[in-house]
Amino acid sequence: MRTGLFIALLLVASSAGSLMGQRGAGAGPPNPFLGNAQAVSEGETLYNQKCTTCHGSGGGGGEIGPAIVSGDRLDIGVSDAQTFNIIKNGVAGTPMTAQRLPDADIWKIVTYIHALRGTAIENPLPGEVAHGEAVFWGKGQCGNCHMVSGRGGLTAPDLSNIAGTRKASSIVDALTKQQHRVYGSGGAHLRMLPAMDSYLPVYVTTADGKTIDGVLLNEDSYSLQMIGNDQQLHLFDKAKLRKVAVESRSLMPTDYDKRLTPDEFKDLMAFLTRQGMVAAPAPGRRGGPPEGER
Ligand code: HEC
Ligand code: HEC
Repeated sequence: MRTGLFIALLLVASSAGSLMGQRGAGAGPPNPFLGNAQAVSEGETLYNQKCTTCHGSGGGGGEIGPAIVSGDRLDIGVSDAQTFNIIKNGVAGTPMTAQRLPDADIWKIVTYIHALRGTAIENPLPGEVAHGEAVFWGKGQCGNCHMVSGRGGLTAPDLSNIAGTRKASSIVDALTKQQHRVYGSGGAHLRMLPAMDSYLPVYVTTADGKTIDGVLLNEDSYSLQMIGNDQQLHLFDKAKLRKVAVESRSLMPTDYDKRLTPDEFKDLMAFLTRQGMVAAPAPGRRGGPPEGER
């Protein structure tokens, strides 16, 4: 079935000359912005201005346009050069008209779409990984809360496989967008965030006036378990506590694009987008970059 469709597509492509450049297997120029986090973010802005109305936010598909990130359309797995051609030239006879944008802007949109299509480990961002690791443990203070490879804090998710489970753009968002909380497979930036159900900050005051801050693990009518910012597990009999306050806001700082210099941020992203393992592709998986681009 798939082979049949593919042959049909090839026939269409070779009979309609104008479609060939758009959908044929021909290689085009390499993406000049591949792995450029700045281009991903500018591409996202452009995408949101020009494409969301038809293709939905995050490329998930809309009423008029198909999903361009995942789904079962044949040419979702096309190369960056082919995506570029589709955006630049449109698809004749469909609502997908040629987009009147400078080539550089089209490439930025393509880079954003590329980042949306795979997990970070498949598209690790460039930079000095060793310096990024130093920022993680040093100026960024990430290790106070997060663990990587068995070292670090317990009051936030373990990031040892963050690049194997999240898209690069989601990791950037987690560090820079206040309304962002990584959600769902690969991560999504939702308009309305569901209430947080783990890593809730908790502030406890014991009967003798001692205060302990950390994140909540478990709570019932009688007892409370938490991991303190001292990284210790604390068990309390609630009846013996003077005060307990649980908050639903995240402790994750989201202004790292301002706290860190551009180089520090870039190198930190280079480090983070290499933490993890490449997942075996699911059968029939589409949407990743074609083999040649890995
Ligand atoms: C007016 C609605 C509309 C707008 C705006 C639009 N598209 Fe499309 N797009 C479509 C439709 C419809 C198709 C399917 C064309 C077809 O039938 O082959 C499509 C196809 C595509 C495809 C090929 C997907 C596939 O699987 O065939 C890509 C990639 C794409 N659009 C990207 C974009 C980008 C990026 C933008 C913004 C710069 C954009 N489009 C703007 C409606 C739109
Ligand atoms: C004060 C504690 C704290 C610090 C410091 C902190 N984080 Fe977080 N981080 C959290 C908590 C709690 C969450 C989970 C809730 C959320 O997603 O907001 C989180 C979530 C994340 C996520 C999303 C995780 C996922 O499952 O997708 C990433 C990525 C992340 N942090 C990276 C970092 C990096 C990198 C740094 C340092 C530059 C850092 N964090 C500093 C507390 C912290």
